[in-house]
Amino acid sequence: HTGMFTYDPGFVATASCRSAITYIDGDKGILRYRGYPIEQLAKEASFLEVAYLLMYGDLPSAEEMTKFDNTIRHHTMIKETLKSFFDGFQYDAHPMGIMVGVVGSLSAFYHDSLDINNPRHREISAHRLIAKMPTIAAASYKHNVGEAFIYPQNDLDYCENFLHMMFSNPCEEYTPDPVAVKAINTLFILHADHEQNASTSTVRLSGSSQANPFACIAAGIASLWGPSHGGANEAVLDMLNEIGDVSQIDKYIAKAKDKDDPFRLMGFGHRVYKNFDPRATLIREVCHEVLANMKGNDDNPLFELALRLEQVALEDEYFVERKLYPNVDFYSGIIYQALGIPTSMFTVMFAVARTVGWVAHWMEMMDDPEFRIGRPRQLYTGAPMRDYVPVDKR
Ligand code: SDX
Repeated sequence: HTGMFTYDPGFVATASCRSAITYIDGDKGILRYRGYPIEQLAKEASFLEVAYLLMYGDLPSAEEMTKFDNTIRHHTMIKETLKSFFDGFQYDAHPMGIMVGVVGSLSAFYHDSLDINNPRHREISAHRLIAKMPTIAAASYKHNVGEAFIYPQNDLDYCENFLHMMFSNPCEEYTPDPVAVKAINTLFILHADHEQNASTSTVRLSGSSQANPFACIAAGIASLWGPSHGGANEAVLDMLNEIGDVSQIDKYIAKAKDKDDPFRLMGFGHRVYKNFDPRATLIREVCHEVLANMKGNDDNPLFELALRLEQVALEDEYFVERKLYPNVDFYSGIIYQALGIPTSMFTVMFAVARTVGWVAHWMEMMDDPEFRIGRPRQLYTGAPMRDYVPVDKR
């Protein structure tokens, strides 16, 4: 179930895995969570509503939503002793490195009391992870900027609470801008799940040995960090800053096409989407909204540059032939930057949102009576059988 392989005529092993959580049609640019089109969820739902949907398979009733919201709202604190864990990191440690370490350390806290074969214990672990990720993420940021950690507030909704923990300080309470809260809610929904991507497959494979779920999510964070995956949102901003202005676009498009040049157009291309990534289209709309409605962002040169870069690339036969379109990471960083979130935290934002997909897939796998440990097979391409030769004869 988790590692079933089929071989196509070209002897290229392709992994396949059955799941009822997310459906993608890469050619048509379709993405649905439990059958609901991402376009509707992004516009109508709250992030926690989508978290419930991904975990339990249906949208919650009002009563179920209240109960779920209360559960998450009342488990956002982390143990005080965990705060000293952050002190072990250099002030300039990358927040994703801190996230891998701190989330992994939760497996030490919640280990002895966790019976992996007990569905209720698994559900509690999933709830704890969803509840604590924003707190750990914000603490990673505060450690980076040398500010005091800010406690979560139980009277704030999930996204508001996250912004509060990020931007409040002991001297001044941050009042979340409704535009920012709505943008974070939409971005979290759009990043929540994406079928068997590298980090989700990492969580499933590590979880298939019945490993501690907190340790498995830490493995997912590590995989997401890579610039070919979730780390691309940070790489896009670095790329746009390197390009500088529209006069340099043609030069960088040429570099992206040059096989001898390692430069790739970050935020472009996808393993599955050979059409528009529907999330990129929705995120571009959020970008317009945030820049139009948040003071001090009206003329965002990076957004103008990104729009022009997208236009030039989509008119270039190299990208058209290879069906390379903007993906989820192309515009998200511009929004995060407009909200005051530093580049180093962009992939952390992705990890907070994707935790919901990771735990949903982990629960689906662990709840499946037929599930077995994953065991990827290989196509052996090494030396044929041969005898040992003593070193004085080599
Ligand atoms: C995410 O799996 C998921 O669902 C991931 C994700 C999720 O939600 O979990 O959607 C999130 O990871 C999005 C992807 C973020 N990464 C980037 O934006 C990094 C830049 N993109 C590339 O590294 C690349 O497009 C990948 C890694 C995303 C896909 O790599 P592939 O599978 O090698 O791309 P491909 O097979 O479609 O490439 C076809 C051709 C190749 O050239 P040729 O050998 O045919 O001549 O297109 C080229 C590639 O070299 N190509 C690019 C390119 N992406 C592919 N050339 C220039 N710039 C690019 N961005």
